[in-house]
Parts: sequence; C-alpha cells; structure tokens
Amino acid sequence: MKTSHRARIDDAREMTLDDDSVELVVTSPPYPMIEMWDELFSELSPGVRRALADENGDVAFELMHEELDEVWEELSRVLVDGGIACINVGDATRKVGEGFRVYQNHARISTAMKELGFEPLPDVLWRKPANSGTKFMGSGMVPPNAYVTLEHEYILVFRNGSQRRRFEVGSDRRYQSAYFWEERNQWFTDVWSDINGTAQPLETGTQESEEEAVRDRSGAFPLDIPYRLINMYSVYGDTVIDPFWGTGTTSVAAMAAGRNSVGYEIETAFADVFEQRISDLDVLSEEIVDDRLDDHRAFIQQRIAEEDEEGYEATNYDFAVMTKQETEIQLYSVSEITSSKSGRETEYVVTHEPAGSSEPTILDSLERAKIDSLSDP
Ligand SMILES: C[S@@+](CC[C@H](N)C(=O)[O-])C[C@H]1O[C@@H](n2cnc3c(N)ncnc32)[C@H](O)[C@@H]1O
Repeated sequence: MKTSHRARIDDAREMTLDDDSVELVVTSPPYPMIEMWDELFSELSPGVRRALADENGDVAFELMHEELDEVWEELSRVLVDGGIACINVGDATRKVGEGFRVYQNHARISTAMKELGFEPLPDVLWRKPANSGTKFMGSGMVPPNAYVTLEHEYILVFRNGSQRRRFEVGSDRRYQSAYFWEERNQWFTDVWSDINGTAQPLETGTQESEEEAVRDRSGAFPLDIPYRLINMYSVYGDTVIDPFWGTGTTSVAAMAAGRNSVGYEIETAFADVFEQRISDLDVLSEEIVDDRLDDHRAFIQQRIAEEDEEGYEATNYDFAVMTKQETEIQLYSVSEITSSKSGRETEYVVTHEPAGSSEPTILDSLERAKIDSLSDP
C-alpha cells in the first residue's frame, strides 16, 4: 500500500485544494491570547497589535479568532460532507491591563464552526498531568481571589453537515481500518488523561539546540493525539488535513496510521524539523504497531482466561478479537519514504507493509452485510 503526504508552505486562509477533497481534519491552531502567538496574529491582522497595546483584551481576542475563522471556512469547503473535524485547543488565562481573566477559545471556535454548518459532536477533554505545587495563581491560601489552574485542553469534534459518511456495503477498507474493542473503550472516553505533553506552554523552557527551539516555538502536540484521532475518524484511503501543520505531527501520525495527508504551514522553518522527524519513521511505525498488537494479545489472553470467552478469530492475525467488526483488522508499518519538491509543496510517498500478519482472507459479502448492520447504530 502507498500513501501520499503533501506539505505546503502557504497560508491556510486560502487553500489551493479542491472542494470535498479531504475526509478528516486534525489540527491545533495557534491559541488566541496565548502570548507566544501574539506576534503571528499581529502579522496576520495589524489590529491585534494595536488592541494589545491599548490593553483591550476583548478586541484582540476577537480579531485573532477572525483570522482562524477564515481557515475554518476553507475547511468547510474542502472537507467532504459527513467528514469529521477535530480541533485541539486550550483556553487562555491572561492579564491585559488591570484585569485577569480566561479567554474561552473553545467556546468561540465552537460558535464559529456551528455558523459554518458543522454539527458539534461530543468533545474530549485532554487532561494534562498536574506536576507542581507552585502552579497555582492568585492569593495563596486566603479566599476568595485565587484562580483555578487550567490543566486541560479540548479536542473539539464536529461533523461537516448533518449526514454521516456512507460506505458501500462490506467496504474492505473500512473493516480493515477497525480498531480493537479495548482500544474503543479507551479512545472513545471523554477524558484523556493517558497522554502526556504540553502543547502550547506560556513560557518556553531552557533551549538546548536550534531544533528544540523550533519545537518550542511550534506548540507541537504529542503524536498520540493525531494518531488516535486518525484511527477513530478515518479509514484507509482517506486524506487527513492539518491547516496548522507546524512540525507536521499530524502527517507523521497519518504515515504511521496508513492514511494520506496534506498540511499547510505559514512558517518555513518547520519543514526541516519534519524531515528530521520522519528519518526513522520505519522504526517508529513498527514500534507503534507492535505495541498495539502486543497490548491486544495480552488483553485477549487475560480476557479469555478470566471471562471464559472465545471471541472471534481475526482473519489476518493469529489471535482472537472481541467482536465480529474487528475480525478483518489490518495494521501496516512504514517500509519506505520518498520525497519530491515542487515550488511551495513537498510530496512524500510512503510505502506500507502489512504488519505482523499472514495472507489476508476476505469475508464473503453476506457476512459483511450482517456486520454492517451492527456497525451503524
Ligand atoms: C499550534 S501550531 C501547530 C503545531 C502542530 N500541531 C505540531 O504538532 O507541530 C500552529 C501553527 O499554525 C501555523 N499557522 C498560523 N496561521 C496560519 C495560516 N494562516 N496558515 C498556515 N499556517 C498557519 C503557525 O505558524 C504554527 O506553526
């Protein structure tokens, strides 16, 4: 199997993509009112600089979001009907002039997306680990003027329009893209506290190298976030777009998950970080897939021993699975990456090999139709 990954150094407010040309959005914008992005927003919209200088937080917040709105509008055009958009964003706490307050980025983006015809779906709270007794803001141990510390971000989830995507009955690529039952139980829970990492720190730490400095400037999210979302909301053959590509974490995840991807990034410096990140992707993708297979083997052995269940036989693997919907699951690892550059765009073509499997056998269509009726509640 081959997938294509296009990285474009360009402005996502005006994309060169055709209408209805991608099936999933996974992204994390620059967070309005987080200081590390003030300069970028001021360049996109000069009114931001003036509003901040005038200590008018409300105006600055709104002007920053108006720049993001243009990208959301482009996404509503390029995303297929029924395609899912996942937006990772955190709120910002900030003192502008005299007043300290929270700027609710998640609420402002939800409103903008609804106005564009996206249907809100249940979102995920990404709970980041609390690690310090000195993190609290305000007046210490004396009420009432202390503030709660924000240690979560949102993964907002929307569907483009009210209709779900439809697939042909017994679609091979859909069934091969299945995730394990126990992964479903973990991934489709609304609080994720098992993912570590700081997406967009208020202050950057000590910088040891130029590459680390670029990473700090990028506000990269942990690979687990796009990898999980891509597996949850797309199938093999789909294209995932990240309009705020940064260091390309979404494309790394798409490569590891065997989906196509396209990214837009306004800043040129991040492209080199991406090249560096994919230099050992064959090893990384194998690790990811081996971990999933090993975890499943351990889970199913324990389950069978404890619950005396038989489950179903996986078609492509030598283990059992919990449900019929998982029987054709097929994971892939990366074996080769080639790249070619043309103007502002670099295309990476990735070759994937079936991971840890024997020759696939295919369920007959009657069997498939039965499973289909189970999978679309
Ligand atoms: C939070 S970072 C994304 C980090 C990314 N998820 C990663 O893992 O590296 C947001 C990115 O959006 C980029 N950006 C902001 N406005 C943009 C625009 N209009 N078009 C394209 N990229 C933009 C910024 O340069 C920044 O790299």
